[in-house]
Amino acid sequence: MTNLYLQEIMSELKLAVTERNHPLKFCVLGSIGSDNSSQTRIIGLRKITNNLTLTFYTDERSNKVSQILKNPNVSLLFYHPEKKMQIKIDGKASIVKDQDLLKEKWLNINSESKKDYTTTKAPGSILENPSELTFLKEKNYFCIIEVKTKTVEYLKLRETSHFKVLFNKDINGWTSQFLVP
Ligand SMILES: Cc1cc2nc3c(=O)[nH]c(=O)nc-3n(C[C@H](O)[C@H](O)[C@H](O)COP(=O)(O)O)c2cc1C
Repeated sequence: MTNLYLQEIMSELKLAVTERNHPLKFCVLGSIGSDNSSQTRIIGLRKITNNLTLTFYTDERSNKVSQILKNPNVSLLFYHPEKKMQIKIDGKASIVKDQDLLKEKWLNINSESKKDYTTTKAPGSILENPSELTFLKEKNYFCIIEVKTKTVEYLKLRETSHFKVLFNKDINGWTSQFLVP
């Protein structure tokens, strides 16, 4: 019976990749800082596979990349306001090294979006003035992050009683438990 919820999660997240303005297109990616502090930021979902590996694009110089390289444990938090549905995913992140894949995806990015990965200075660097922002022509820092899901927590807010279920992925597939919401 809980499979229905997993199917709903999967189909909504797949729609988020393809549909314009889908409420699950952007999520909060939580990682662990070098001082063990929690670090969060919004990020756009680019791809999701049937076994719940999620793909994101970023600049390889960004803080999240060095945090993931040091500690790959991450959380992803999505919220669908119309469905009153929260999805929290815990998993292990990795940085894609496959140069052919990076090249293929890079070629599919439009020229305006390419600027997100070609600033002369690294993301987070101090600028005396926003007009100082310049872009590299010959080099890019395009980077792909993949998150392999370990657990998915589904929360639905309802008029009568809220509802929460936790899915755990193991070698045999998914197990689930209902939780007090
Ligand atoms: C709506 C929205 C979408 C964003 N999408 C991305 C994204 O897909 N990739 C990304 O690296 N940063 C994205 N950002 C910027 C990040 O939130 C963040 O500011 C930036 O990546 C630097 O994060 P870091 O220093 O924690 O690594 C987005 C921000 C907003 C507000």
